[in-house]
Amino acid sequence: MKPAKKIPTIVLLSLCFFILVGALAVQAQEPLAENEQCLTCHSNPDLTVTFADGSEISGHVSRSGFLHSVHGDEDMTCGGCHPDHQDYPHPEVDAADARSYTLKLNETCLDCHPDQSEKVQDSVHSKYLADGHTEAAVCVDCHGAHDTISLRESRVAIATACRQCHSEIYDEYRDSVHGKALVEEENTDAPTCVDCHGVHQIENPHTAQYRNTSPEMCGSCHADAELMKKYDISTNVFQTYVADFHGTTVTLFERESPDLPSNKAVCYDCHGIHNIKAPDDPNSTVIKDNLQKTCQKCHPDISANFPASWTSHYEPTFDKEPLVAAVNLFYAIIIPGVIGFMGLFVVIDAGHRLFGKKSADTKHQDED
Ligand code: HEC
Ligand code: HEC
Ligand code: HEC
Ligand code: HEC
Ligand code: HEC
Ligand code: HEC
Ligand code: HEC
Ligand code: HEC
Ligand code: HEC
Repeated sequence: MKPAKKIPTIVLLSLCFFILVGALAVQAQEPLAENEQCLTCHSNPDLTVTFADGSEISGHVSRSGFLHSVHGDEDMTCGGCHPDHQDYPHPEVDAADARSYTLKLNETCLDCHPDQSEKVQDSVHSKYLADGHTEAAVCVDCHGAHDTISLRESRVAIATACRQCHSEIYDEYRDSVHGKALVEEENTDAPTCVDCHGVHQIENPHTAQYRNTSPEMCGSCHADAELMKKYDISTNVFQTYVADFHGTTVTLFERESPDLPSNKAVCYDCHGIHNIKAPDDPNSTVIKDNLQKTCQKCHPDISANFPASWTSHYEPTFDKEPLVAAVNLFYAIIIPGVIGFMGLFVVIDAGHRLFGKKSADTKHQDED
């Protein structure tokens, strides 16, 4: 083939390619005909659904909300979740009230997402539901039914999802050092609700096990040197806590008998929970002015200078805690010294006996 004749072929092929890609793109954006059929009625904002108790909800479904949802992206049809509604008039609405309708339709999520469904079964929300607290969260409360969002892309959206039902805790959290960092500064290093509670398997946070393992939960970030360096926050907090009389016992409890409650302080007994502040914030539970009150939760009869008896998170230094540091240094030298000396003594003694005896034996053999 001559080069001059090649050009139209290339142009033709490229044209075909672009038409094909274009057609595919249009198809991906255009709503499925089947869904459009439903939306001719359901895009009407005045459409209502009435329940047996006479209450009403809107029957409007947002076209763009659905198309841009995680499922719209997958070309899912309305019938995928509403198989009995292909024809109109539909079967009679079979639910006493709006909440029981939601709980019933929520079942449609379970088959396609078995992993999450299984985890949710063990969550504190499912336990509350089983006890008749119908307002406890199900899939569609957190993710939405038609405008379903992933929640993996935004840690702020996660806190907002929990806020719908836990608004008081959200408000407290929002003002905390963690909440401010996340919500105001969009700092994704800060913990959102699920970092401390789990995602689908949210457990009861009032159990002994949760309490005993909680220092490790805080430690997952606060013992991470690289992460904390960014904020100039000491990572020694976890180490010193574990070595402290409060931490040693909690760590032992966690290892030996995780289900037994410990009365020793864990991180949040001193720092607060959803209201954690920087230690120099005037509202901090650990700022000097508030410290006595914080310790008094468990040491009711203490005086104002009791907290000073504690070296807090610092390794005692001669600057801050000369006496404690001196005692530590004393032990650091004396204990290994004594043990080392004893060890040396034992070795020399054993050697003496063994080789002393051996040379005595050889002597005897020589004599024979
Ligand atoms: C001709 C208009 C019309 C069309 C088309 C239509 N619907 Fe409906 N739909 C309604 C009306 C009106 C209601 C309110 C309750 C009722 O009267 O049944 C409703 C209620 C519903 C409900 C809530 C009540 C229930 O029983 O669960 C669902 C779900 C539903 N429609 C799904 C669909 C689906 C899926 C399609 C498409 C396959 C569709 N509809 C097509 C008019 C329509
Ligand atoms: C991924 C599953 C799923 C798909 C797909 C789906 N729905 Fe639903 N739909 C639900 C669930 C779950 C509910 C109950 C939600 C609630 O009560 O909060 C519901 C409720 C409804 C209702 C009652 C009113 C309401 O909003 O609660 C209507 C009407 C409805 N759907 C229509 C549609 C139409 C039309 C489509 C397609 C454009 C569609 N649905 C696609 C799961 C789905
Ligand atoms: C017919 C099967 C089907 C049903 C029913 C269904 N989903 Fe999905 N869902 C999918 C598919 C397919 C995807 C996209 C692929 C993926 O991420 O798993 C998806 C994605 C998702 C995602 C995003 C996952 C991610 O990777 O971030 C969420 C959240 C979700 N679905 C929640 C729900 C909820 C809530 C319901 C009930 C209202 C539901 N799904 C019902 C099939 C289904
Ligand atoms: C209490 C709120 C809540 C409930 C209830 C809930 N989810 Fe989630 N879900 C989340 C959050 C938050 C994420 C994002 C997790 C992350 O960032 O790692 C998520 C993530 C997902 C994902 C993405 C994959 C993954 O596991 O991270 C899917 C799929 C999903 N959820 C489906 C469901 C289904 C199905 C149900 C019901 C059986 C459900 N969710 C119930 C909050 C919830
Ligand atoms: C639809 C409402 C709703 C949503 C959304 C919701 N919850 Fe809940 N949650 C409840 C209800 C109701 C209870 C049980 C009683 C109570 O504590 O108010 C509960 C209980 C809990 C408990 C146990 C409290 C205890 O004292 O036993 C935790 C922890 C919890 N939720 C965390 C979360 C987190 C984290 C999220 C977001 C990922 C979330 N919830 C989203 C309604 C919701
Ligand atoms: C830094 C970790 C952390 C973060 C972030 C966090 N929580 Fe908690 N949360 C806890 C701890 C620890 C407890 C247990 C407190 C106790 O034993 O009294 C708790 C308890 C709870 C409870 C039980 C009720 C109560 O008042 O004791 C709920 C509900 C709850 N959290 C929801 C949330 C929600 C919603 C968010 C996000 C807005 C959130 N938590 C963020 C650590 C956290
Ligand atoms: C997901 C990671 C993460 C977890 C889990 C976490 N934190 Fe934090 N924490 C941070 C980050 C990041 C900052 C710094 C925020 C800033 O200054 O902008 C911070 C700040 C703090 C501060 C303020 C320190 C200062 O000097 O300003 C305290 C106190 C604190 N956290 C205590 C806790 C306690 C107690 C827990 C457990 C109940 C906990 N944190 C769990 C990431 C975490
Ligand atoms: C007995 C009370 C108590 C316990 C338990 C406790 N802290 Fe502290 N924490 C304090 C006090 C007081 C301060 C402020 C003075 C200081 O830094 O020693 C502080 C300071 C901090 C700081 C700020 C350090 C900095 O460099 O700015 C962080 C972060 C912190 N603690 C995290 C934790 C974590 C994580 C745990 C659990 C592993 C924990 N704390 C356990 C009382 C406590
Ligand atoms: C959640 C409860 C709790 C909190 C809060 C708490 N402690 Fe303790 N602390 C204990 C328990 C329990 C012991 C062990 C008592 C025993 O074995 O006799 C202990 C032991 C001590 C001891 C060892 C000496 C003694 O009296 O046995 C000191 C010092 C101490 N705590 C200081 C503090 C300081 C300072 C604070 C406040 C910053 C504080 N504690 C907050 C529960 C707590």
